[in-house]
Amino acid sequence: MAPLVRVRQGRLAVALAASALGVLTTLAVPVVVGRAIDQALPTPTDPIPTTGMAPFVVALVLLGIARAACGFVARDGLARVAFGLEFDLRALIYEHLSRLSFSFYDRVQTGQLVSRANSDVRSVQMYLAYAPALVVSTASFAVAVVLMVRIHLGLTVAAVAALPGVYALGVRLRKELFPLSWVVQAHLAEIATVVDENVTGTRVVKSFAGEGRQIALLERAARRLQWATVRQFDTRARLGPAMENLPRIGLALVLLYGGVLAIDGQVSIGDLVVFSSYVVLLQAPFRSLGFLLMLSQRASASAQRIYEVLDTEPEIVDAPDAIELVEPRGDVELRQVHFTYPGRDTPVLAGLDLRLFAGETVALVGRTGAGKSSVARLLTRFYDVDAGAVLIDGHDVRTVTLASLRRAVGVVVDEPFLFSDTLLANIAYGRPDASLDDVRRAAAAAGVDDFISALPRGYDTVVGERGYTLSGGQRQRIAIARTLLVDPAVLVLDDATSAVDAEREELIHDALRTLMAGRTTLVIAHRLSTIALADRVVLLDGGRAVADGPHAELLAREPRYAEVLSSLPDERVAVRR
Ligand SMILES: Nc1ncnc2c1ncn2[C@@H]1O[C@H](COP(=O)(O)OP(=O)(O)OP(=O)(O)O)[C@@H](O)[C@H]1O
Ligand SMILES: [Mg+2]
Repeated sequence: MAPLVRVRQGRLAVALAASALGVLTTLAVPVVVGRAIDQALPTPTDPIPTTGMAPFVVALVLLGIARAACGFVARDGLARVAFGLEFDLRALIYEHLSRLSFSFYDRVQTGQLVSRANSDVRSVQMYLAYAPALVVSTASFAVAVVLMVRIHLGLTVAAVAALPGVYALGVRLRKELFPLSWVVQAHLAEIATVVDENVTGTRVVKSFAGEGRQIALLERAARRLQWATVRQFDTRARLGPAMENLPRIGLALVLLYGGVLAIDGQVSIGDLVVFSSYVVLLQAPFRSLGFLLMLSQRASASAQRIYEVLDTEPEIVDAPDAIELVEPRGDVELRQVHFTYPGRDTPVLAGLDLRLFAGETVALVGRTGAGKSSVARLLTRFYDVDAGAVLIDGHDVRTVTLASLRRAVGVVVDEPFLFSDTLLANIAYGRPDASLDDVRRAAAAAGVDDFISALPRGYDTVVGERGYTLSGGQRQRIAIARTLLVDPAVLVLDDATSAVDAEREELIHDALRTLMAGRTTLVIAHRLSTIALADRVVLLDGGRAVADGPHAELLAREPRYAEVLSSLPDERVAVRR
């Protein structure tokens, strides 16, 4: 964290100096009050004191003003440092997350990442910003002890006698509370997960009438939280009063022993006032010492979790000498590709050879789980091949920049994600500067312009979260329009028409033909009518291309092809025919 702190060291130093000065003014107040009392009390030599109180009043007012000013500068500075750190850390995490590869997102849970970016950042921030200030206020203890020893050593011992007890209690409290606070945090996260799943998965919950089960789940989690929270407060209630009253024992000792000393004339009444004030002032740093230790433990655990993310190297990055793919023709070749998902044993692709010439439309067919979508992910380099190569225009995809590769290859995935934004913004996502005319043309080619124009707010309609306010087919066509607007040289359509009803299909196919014109297209086909759009068909089985040719030819000579086709849900009739 040092570099993040270092860029703010000037501001931090000023804030710490101000807080040290503030502590000194706080310590000075009892001294002034003590002197004033000593001046005002009659003594045998001076039965009617003549010195006025004015200098003391002025001194106290000035000290008050100085304390307020120091407090402001210290708090303002510390807050700026703290929230600046928080801002930087969060930006750092987000920037890093946006560079991490798909394989990372396959592994981690969204909730985990969110909590790392929120509560973990907060606890590191608290430690970095407040620890120095707490150290300064603890240092004030030393100053106070020196001041007290100069007045009377024995009385100093009496004043600090109870402090080790305060510290020991603080340690005990922390030992008992720390695990409990973890448990509370964990249960809070658990409840958040249940609520989150309830809300995002509400369609599943309701359609299986699972509301009762979900409520029971939430209730169990809430009960666990309740138990932990009550335990936490019990502990506080047990140890808190002792913690508060121990310093009062110190105060009683000071008044008893100090009273005797004052009667003997060994210390003045004013000194007694100084001591009794310090006894109260001193216990605060002692308590905060415990707090500091707790903060540091929590912050180091949080920092570890944050660095787990920051230390994860993105696996897929631009090669140092990567070139830009400029105006690609759209020649695609997969050469002896072997691919296994990270953390899996069974290979998905084992020696796949696939060639798409520029401008050609090829249908990829295979049973479910055959690896069709995986081929699309390799073309855009969401993952890297284990062996073999993926080439665009003869360039290995690992030798070109990711940005230019992903501009050249457009994918309409099987489960398109829409942002909760306007339809215009969703379609223009890949080209935010596109004009409304361009967007409408793309939408028209994808067959959604009519639908969108008929909406009361047209292209300014905001779609619900993840596009839930649209039908599956509408979502897919908006995804097609989004890709069409970018005008990629190579297009991959994954299941792009599977959620479309038969009547709309003809319309979609017109749109698809427009979409395919002049570019290389790989359609991952789940219905015969989509296959009909292609120049030829490649059958994927066992991780390799086992057949390649026009549909009719494959149907005649390749029994495995007929078998896969007959397994497609709505094509049994067509195949038989
Ligand atoms: N992110 C992933 N991590 C690990 N394994 C995966 C991942 N994605 C897919 N797989 C596995 O890889 C295999 C191929 O998946 P793929 O999505 O390519 O199949 P598909 O041919 O597109 O199937 P479908 O026709 O059902 O869409 C499957 O066995 C699947 O379980
Ligand atoms: Mg798939």
